[in-house]
Amino acid sequence: MVRVNLWALTEVTAAVLPGMVERRRGAIVNMGSASSEAIPSFPLSTMYAATKRYVAKFSRSLYVEYRSKGIDVQCQAPFFVATRIVPSAIRNNWLSPFLPTPDAYAAAATRWIGHGPLCSPTVAHQLLWCLAGVLPDAVHDWLRLREHRRLRTLSFQRIRAASATGRTKAKSAAEDDRSRAGMALHLSGSRGVYTATFSFRLLAYLALCLRQPRDLRRHYGAWAMVTGPTSGIGWSVALELASRGINLVLLDLDAANLQETSDMIKSRHAVTTKTVVFDLSLVGTPQGDESMRRLRAAIEGLDLGLLVNNAGVSKPSGAYLHEVDVEAWVKMVRVNLWALTEVTAAVLPGMVQRRRGAIVNMGSASSEAIPSFPLSNIYAATKRYVAKFSRSLYVEYRNKGVDVQCQAPFFVATRMVPRAIRDNWLSSFLPTPDAYAAAAMRWIGHGPLCSPTVGHQLLWCLARVLPDAVHDWLRLREHLRLRARLRSRE
Ligand SMILES: NC(=O)c1ccc[n+]([C@@H]2O[C@H](COP(=O)([O-])OP(=O)(O)OC[C@H]3O[C@@H](n4cnc5c(N)ncnc54)[C@H](OP(=O)(O)O)[C@@H]3O)[C@@H](O)[C@H]2O)c1
Repeated sequence: MVRVNLWALTEVTAAVLPGMVERRRGAIVNMGSASSEAIPSFPLSTMYAATKRYVAKFSRSLYVEYRSKGIDVQCQAPFFVATRIVPSAIRNNWLSPFLPTPDAYAAAATRWIGHGPLCSPTVAHQLLWCLAGVLPDAVHDWLRLREHRRLRTLSFQRIRAASATGRTKAKSAAEDDRSRAGMALHLSGSRGVYTATFSFRLLAYLALCLRQPRDLRRHYGAWAMVTGPTSGIGWSVALELASRGINLVLLDLDAANLQETSDMIKSRHAVTTKTVVFDLSLVGTPQGDESMRRLRAAIEGLDLGLLVNNAGVSKPSGAYLHEVDVEAWVKMVRVNLWALTEVTAAVLPGMVQRRRGAIVNMGSASSEAIPSFPLSNIYAATKRYVAKFSRSLYVEYRNKGVDVQCQAPFFVATRMVPRAIRDNWLSSFLPTPDAYAAAAMRWIGHGPLCSPTVGHQLLWCLARVLPDAVHDWLRLREHLRLRARLRSRE
């Protein structure tokens, strides 16, 4: 799914862009989905929605990057269209009046090409989008999980008992009726719920900030795994966890760095460590499969309660998509989202069996607080995937005792951040990795998305005030300036 939905789309786009840039005209339409844009989570179809989230972010940043070069980039994000991708249970339920045929969709879609970075072309889908905007996220989460569980049960029943098709249909119809009645009830009460949620949001948030941090070892287990612990945030997070008496599985690509980190941690804290040498950019290759086997063997039988998916790469940055060898972008996709998905899938069965665990995925405010991130497009798109992936997993696994969270900081003072940013007005909002890690610990297990430090929370509020078009303009200007500085040093 990752290969088809996002990787191939990125490569094909990179292949056509140079010609379009040369001719100074062109349009690129990327098929996204309302499941990633109009709805906060899409449990039990987590990967699908996460890949589509990447597509939307990728398209928006490209739109900002290439507008001045005569190229219009757009993500079209429909709800369901009546094709074979849509299960028959959906074609027959209350959504059916909102289900255009592929022909009707295509006719509407062509009218939208070149008009803005994101659209849902048919009127019916625009209406659904407005309805979806009324419901609070928690209600969406609950409804989606219920609906998707029902769909899952239906498809299992069909597979198991093809001979009982008639009975299954009757049950499905009855459930649809119930679901329709339930939906009407939810919609009528939704405005009140929304107002109440909004009013209490600030209070709830303040309560979160003031709460006591969890005893992570007692709550989740005696072991944690940290990817990318040899520098920056990962290093500080590993030390914080060790200071709480948690044993560590450390995963990184350089054996010597890893050993040094492990020795240093053991010299400071009375914990046990294990190391796994794994170049995450090889995930999905035979060497990557071999490393994944070693990783599974290393965690087998451990009371692994915490996973911090921290490893990430941000280079190439300050570059247009068509300028850089596509292999470099693909490497970023592999490390930032593919490996994170595989490592998460490797630890989940144990956590589910023990009915406790926490997974922290490092996202970025560049994908969540800001509408586009031109010239670092793929980085922000991969982080967008991470946030959506985390939110859907949060909904899926909450009742199995596993807390999934995406942490999305603005800049933290590590080697990933260019000097030009460390020296500009943002420097007052730049926590050290140690300060970040200390704040991050307090948030584990508290909600699907957070930006742990107070300075970053303030920046997030400021970012909300600006309209998207202003953000786009500011980001492009700032990133072009950074690019010029980087190039002048080369
Ligand atoms: N710093 C920020 O401002 C900021 C802001 C938002 C989000 N984040 C996210 O926070 C996370 C940590 O960032 P950081 O600033 O601490 O970066 P960093 O100092 O560059 O650390 C990245 C870590 O990931 C490891 N890593 C990189 N590629 C790898 C690979 N192919 N296989 C295995 N390990 C690999 C690195 O190992 P080596 O040392 O061996 O290369 C290093 O330990 C990243 O996911 C980043 O996207 C950072």
